[in-house]
Amino acid sequence: MRKPVRKAVFPVGGLGTRFLPATKAMPKEMLPVVDKPLIQYAVEEAQAAGIEQIIFVTGRGKTSIEDHFDFSYELQDTLRKRGKMEAYGVVTDMMTQPGSVAYVRQQEPAGLGHAVWAARHLVGDEPFAILLADDLVMSKQPCIGQLIDVYNQTGGNALAVMDVPREHTERYGVLDVGSDDGRLAEIKGLVEKPKPADAPSTLSVIGRYVLLPEVFDILENQGKGAGGEIQLTDAMAQMLGKAPFHGLRFEGRRFDCGDKVGFLEATLAFALERSDLGRDVQRLIDDYASIGAARKVV
Ligand code: G1P
Repeated sequence: MRKPVRKAVFPVGGLGTRFLPATKAMPKEMLPVVDKPLIQYAVEEAQAAGIEQIIFVTGRGKTSIEDHFDFSYELQDTLRKRGKMEAYGVVTDMMTQPGSVAYVRQQEPAGLGHAVWAARHLVGDEPFAILLADDLVMSKQPCIGQLIDVYNQTGGNALAVMDVPREHTERYGVLDVGSDDGRLAEIKGLVEKPKPADAPSTLSVIGRYVLLPEVFDILENQGKGAGGEIQLTDAMAQMLGKAPFHGLRFEGRRFDCGDKVGFLEATLAFALERSDLGRDVQRLIDDYASIGAARKVV
């Protein structure tokens, strides 16, 4: 019988230089979209897909992530005593079972492959999920759950993919595609951040993966790749042909929250979906759209 996907790895060791100065003393994964940190969206996505164990690969300066997912005695006690039960619910509902969240430090920012490898002892010999919190996905079925479905069908590796403009291939892991039914694409090759002219396609990996544990053996000896970093994409490329390996054009909308405009778009899209905010935010957007430049304050 196939082993179930029970564990998810969240690499959160990155520096977040694109969001300085906001990220000088705060992890980029704690940046809020509306009122919830990016990392909480990713954790909730994994939990909604049935993931039982959360593994954060952290680094220096990331302790606020640990605190965020921990019991906060003073806050909870104060909210309860003051009768602020809605706010109390917000902080207690997100609590995980004791012992279901683990942290391991990456120690050096040597790349995504290195971060995933740092979780090897906590994952062990079973298939696992990886979620990059920078990629925020709005969907009916959790994006990582869609990949777990693919694993359950094929017994192999599965990545979330989408077509990107050719001039953006240098930002992504890009697929060389074999047979393709328009939803599920068999992967023949994988290249990390190719130049547009060299990209084998425009079908690109976004930050959701379900991988077999064999990836850890490859990462063990993985040399540096694009950008002088140990790349997960290079390790995955070595797994091709050994077990089924597919890219899934997932159902849902992905926001690149590692980019300022993508982050703002996510904020608008998530606010518009909220019953308590949607109407006011729509009015604001209409207002800005009609008045345009005249709205400028200075
Ligand atoms: C990472 C991966 C890349 C993937 C991307 C998705 O790149 O290395 O293959 O396409 O995430 O967001 P990064 O964004 O960390 O540079």
